[in-house]
Amino acid sequence: MRQPPPEIEAVGISKIFGALKVVDDVSLRLAPGTFHALLGENGAGKSTLVKCLMGVYQADAGVVRVDGTPMHAGSPREARRHGIGMVFQHFTLIPSMTVAENLVLARPDLPLIIDWKAEFTRLRDFLKQAPFQVDLESHIANLSAGQKQKVEILKELYLETRFLILDEPTSVLTPQEADEVLGFLRRLVEAGELSVLLITHKFREVMAFCDSVTVLRRGRFAGAGRVTALDPERMAAMMMGEAPEGRRVDKVPAKRGAALLQLHALRAMDDNGLEAVHGIDLTVHEGEIVGIAGVSGNGQKELLEVIAGQRAATSGHITVSGELHLPTRALLRKHRFFVLPEEPLRNAAVPRMSVAENIALRVFDKPPFREAGFLLNRASIVNFGRDMIQKFSVRPPQGDAPIGDLSGGNVQRAILSRELSSGEVRVLVAANPCFGLDFKAVDFIHDRLIETRNRGAAVLLVSEDLDELLEIADRIYVISGGNLVHETTPVDADLAVIGRQMAGSH
Ligand SMILES: Nc1ncnc2c1ncn2[C@@H]1O[C@H](COP(=O)(O)OP(=O)(O)OP(=O)(O)O)[C@@H](O)[C@H]1O
Ligand SMILES: [Mg+2]
Repeated sequence: MRQPPPEIEAVGISKIFGALKVVDDVSLRLAPGTFHALLGENGAGKSTLVKCLMGVYQADAGVVRVDGTPMHAGSPREARRHGIGMVFQHFTLIPSMTVAENLVLARPDLPLIIDWKAEFTRLRDFLKQAPFQVDLESHIANLSAGQKQKVEILKELYLETRFLILDEPTSVLTPQEADEVLGFLRRLVEAGELSVLLITHKFREVMAFCDSVTVLRRGRFAGAGRVTALDPERMAAMMMGEAPEGRRVDKVPAKRGAALLQLHALRAMDDNGLEAVHGIDLTVHEGEIVGIAGVSGNGQKELLEVIAGQRAATSGHITVSGELHLPTRALLRKHRFFVLPEEPLRNAAVPRMSVAENIALRVFDKPPFREAGFLLNRASIVNFGRDMIQKFSVRPPQGDAPIGDLSGGNVQRAILSRELSSGEVRVLVAANPCFGLDFKAVDFIHDRLIETRNRGAAVLLVSEDLDELLEIADRIYVISGGNLVHETTPVDADLAVIGRQMAGSH
């Protein structure tokens, strides 16, 4: 029988980075067996606050009490001893190891010599009553974002965490997967076995699964309440401090032009050498957004990597306006071809370089950023960065901070500003560009994508969020098992059919 969850109380927590008070005198009390949501816009201080609870950061002021006793050392190890566990916003699994190795090595009571046979038996028993299944022998590096997230959560359950902090766990899951995971956790909460502190940007999840909420705004407490007494509008107002302004870009009727981006019988393998993309033909015309829907792990990761030049196609090719396209700097520039990959901090940024430098990565070797020879013009990089930071509302607006220190949503904004700013875009390929963004930022990015399309670019949007595709795409394909198995327009979309196609049961 599991022990009941502890009562967690944080009193007057503050955390300062440099000159910035990121968390400012925040208090929170979580009774055992509650499902609590922590809300706030990108950069509000949510991740920082929960890292203080988890002992990853030492708070500059305040105290965390577990069942009334103050935590002393404030380390993740101490937190774990009290049954507190956390799934971080960025993955923490070891990519080169298997699922089983990751689960076993996370155990705090690991013996010096590991009896793998016994461990596997134990793991299999554990998996029998787990909410979702994963292949224990898979290498983490080969898993999709959604699968990795499931392993992160399984790891916490395996470690018998009783107070589980989840930092935007569903931003990489499909709505169905999210319901499955949160529904399972909800049942554990109701059975009195678990407390959950959930950071999310999705009001739907708050309304469906949470008992109560706390809202942060710019590092400060901005409101709290029981979910039954609140609605999304009230929560949005607490987050933003005022009614969010509604000005949106109009999606003008599609003016589909010539074929621009074309994939010709593209085939690619996954990291295990199995074919993951089975000969995909696809045309994106000028002035349209083509969406690719699908459950993660159906070849979209490999397809995107081929398009972005991070993976070689085994056969087939890509053309832009009929001309062969290869991911060289020269051709990317000539075709005005831009890619916004998934997990931008890992795939599209240099975490320790500054925000301004990251924004200039596309253009630093062109005038005015490059002067005679190889001299870089620092001042123009800084100015350009400042401009983009302002235009894309990156917070905090400091170009010289390492981009790795930005909150998740702000990294996304900075990278998008780079991809959309450097000259006129003709082809834009975006993968799940709104993962982890607050609703205001989602609207902002959708507006930029629509604007890019309205100006005549070809936009390919790969997204696990079907609602997003239904809202902004002109045509939608479903990818399943490495093939495009279904095509529809948002107007004609039949959700039941799409769901069946996504699930691979045609
Ligand atoms: N290690 C750090 N060094 C300096 N500044 C930091 C560091 N970590 C976070 N910050 C800053 O603290 C602020 C709050 O960041 P935090 O990650 O807590 O936000 P968040 O509410 O989780 O946002 P998001 O929804 O985008 O994940 C941001 O302005 C961020 O740039
Ligand atoms: Mg965060």
